[in-house]
Amino acid sequence: MIVKINRFQGGRYQTQEFELDIPKGVTVLDILMKIKEEIDPSLSFRAMCRASICGTCGVKVNGEPRLACNTRIYQEEVIIEPVDNAEPIKDLVVDQDPLFVRLRRGKVWVVPKGESLPLRPEDLSKTSRSSDCILCGLCDSVCPSLVEDKNFGGPAFFTRAYRVIEDPRNTAVEERIRDLVPFNVQSCVHCNNCNIYCPKGCMPERWITLIEGKLLQRGYIQKKAEDFGFLGF
Ligand code: SF4
Ligand code: SF4
Ligand code: FES
Repeated sequence: MIVKINRFQGGRYQTQEFELDIPKGVTVLDILMKIKEEIDPSLSFRAMCRASICGTCGVKVNGEPRLACNTRIYQEEVIIEPVDNAEPIKDLVVDQDPLFVRLRRGKVWVVPKGESLPLRPEDLSKTSRSSDCILCGLCDSVCPSLVEDKNFGGPAFFTRAYRVIEDPRNTAVEERIRDLVPFNVQSCVHCNNCNIYCPKGCMPERWITLIEGKLLQRGYIQKKAEDFGFLGF
């Protein structure tokens, strides 16, 4: 198998080619581990759980954002690159901090009453797929609105925010909803990229639409002019 890796080193990208004797059907993470262990120990990438849970192993595989640990390769050739919309650090490692900084700024966490009780399955019916988010950031990597508007929270942020405001244990729901105002939910252009590429099927755009509705309902934001069908000249 021919493996091409677009590595970020010394301030620039450089594609390096490896020829591997490896069976088809292995994961991208298996490929990266084999290269690191047997050919080039300097290759940098992130991974922890190997089970689509930790959210650390996002890369671009043949041009599309994927989790390295759950993407199998059956072709003779594969191209692996760092994800888009993120500052590269080294090789395939990008800076994931901006998402976590936004989550902290937006206070996106549950404030339980007294001791924190476990969630029952029926409690999760409202949060449904937003609960499956592993904060891998792949949705952010394909979001055009995050590029255009630096104050936009982004699909990963709003997916976690929805999960938090619909959590029945949360005693700070109204504060949490109000705290979302600075994150420009209306900058979403509803392109659907996040829904298409989320590896966990979380449907981020759906939660963005529902959060926009909650903010409109409370008068924290106003309907956009184009939503009224006005024409611009
Ligand atoms: S919504 Fe999906 S793609 Fe986005 S961070 Fe969560 S799991 Fe990853
Ligand atoms: S639907 Fe909205 S949040 Fe999702 S990728 Fe498109 S602009 Fe970004
Ligand atoms: S290694 Fe944890 S999600 Fe891939």
